Amino acid sequence: MTNLLITGGAGFIGANFVHYWRARHPDDGITVLDALTYAGNRANLAGANAVDFVHGDIRDTALVESLLAERSIDTIVHFAAESHVDRSIHGPAAFVDTNVIGTLSLLTAARAVWLAGSGRPHRFHHVSTDEVYGSLGPNDPAFSETTPYAPNSPYSASKAASDHLVRAWQHTYGLETTTSNCSNNYGPFQFPEKLIPLFLINALHGRPLPIYGDGMQIRDWLHVEDHCRGIEACLSRGRVGETYNIGGGAELPNITVIDTLCAAVDAAFAADPGLAARFPQAPAASGTPTASLKTYVTDRPGHDRRYAIDETKARAELGYAPARSFEQGFADTLAWYLANEHWWRAVMDGSYRDWVDANYAAR
Ligand code: NAD
Ligand code: TYD
Repeated sequence: MTNLLITGGAGFIGANFVHYWRARHPDDGITVLDALTYAGNRANLAGANAVDFVHGDIRDTALVESLLAERSIDTIVHFAAESHVDRSIHGPAAFVDTNVIGTLSLLTAARAVWLAGSGRPHRFHHVSTDEVYGSLGPNDPAFSETTPYAPNSPYSASKAASDHLVRAWQHTYGLETTTSNCSNNYGPFQFPEKLIPLFLINALHGRPLPIYGDGMQIRDWLHVEDHCRGIEACLSRGRVGETYNIGGGAELPNITVIDTLCAAVDAAFAADPGLAARFPQAPAASGTPTASLKTYVTDRPGHDRRYAIDETKARAELGYAPARSFEQGFADTLAWYLANEHWWRAVMDGSYRDWVDANYAAR
């Protein structure tokens, strides 16, 4: 049996990972450590059985040490981070605090508890991003694990720093680590500040879809459940000290993603007349194309032009391959957001915090 500590497990990918792991490893212990920042939401964990939630900060090294020791944790899966590039441009210090100092704190605690005496079996899996590799030109080869780091935003710089710390703790102290660098995730529970959920919800409210610059920036879109499978493969088959790139095999310009989204919303309204009654402000409710909301706005400073993942190593060593096409993954995601209006309304009006207070005050 494995005993996991999942940091950031109330956030988008962390919560998906908790549900994924619980469904496939019913006997494993799961402790979630999450500070519940604006991006953390305990409601994301509703329905996940036997998950022990600890409201705390990864920078609290003493807390992490006591969790590792008292709960016989043998595996850390580290998601906790400040994750939004635009926020990092406005407030970079929080990204250094959480992503760099927070990772240092976890490594310090793991070393103290796991490597004490003759040591004990363990794994520290660090979840990182393809953004550490910088920006590609149109004809450059995709990022491989040996591509030199060239982070361009405060977010990616802080993630790059955390990757280097994980590497150093493996080389210097023998901590058993693996790292995955993945591409842009999408799927259920994604906070509506990121492209896909923001644009879906704006489309339903008849609000502009703000396209940065010319909309020709390219990302590789990875359904979050494929990402979870990739992390599971790293944990079971990844070699200690190695890094693995995890992608979705869906390299697309933003404008293609946005046009797909607009067409899918139009089709959903055409197929289900009930949507017009639920979302009367949506252009699609009156037969106007959602694409009429597309609005070009000033580009993000330092905006990376293209990310692409070469996942040869993960395929060869881990047997990883994304299972969902972007078309399927996007259709599933749209269906989830339409079926879970209560979730995103609560996130947007802040009332999910009241829900947390009411439900967990006594715990
Ligand atoms: P998110 O912003 O949705 O969630 C982050 C979670 O971390 C939240 O629950 C938050 O409360 C928690 N957290 C923040 N600071 C904390 C602290 N000091 N102590 C404890 N918990 C804290 O992020 P996400 O999109 O789920 O990303 C998860 C990880 O995956 C991050 O490390 C991110 O860099 C990485 N990643 C994300 C993407 C993506 O497309 N979302 C792509 C590549 C890599
Ligand atoms: P985002 O979801 O913020 O992820 P990242 O910046 O980490 O790749 O953005 C994805 C792409 O969409 C990125 O090229 C920026 C662009 N974008 C917009 O054009 N408009 C928006 O309002 C947002 C949030 C993103």
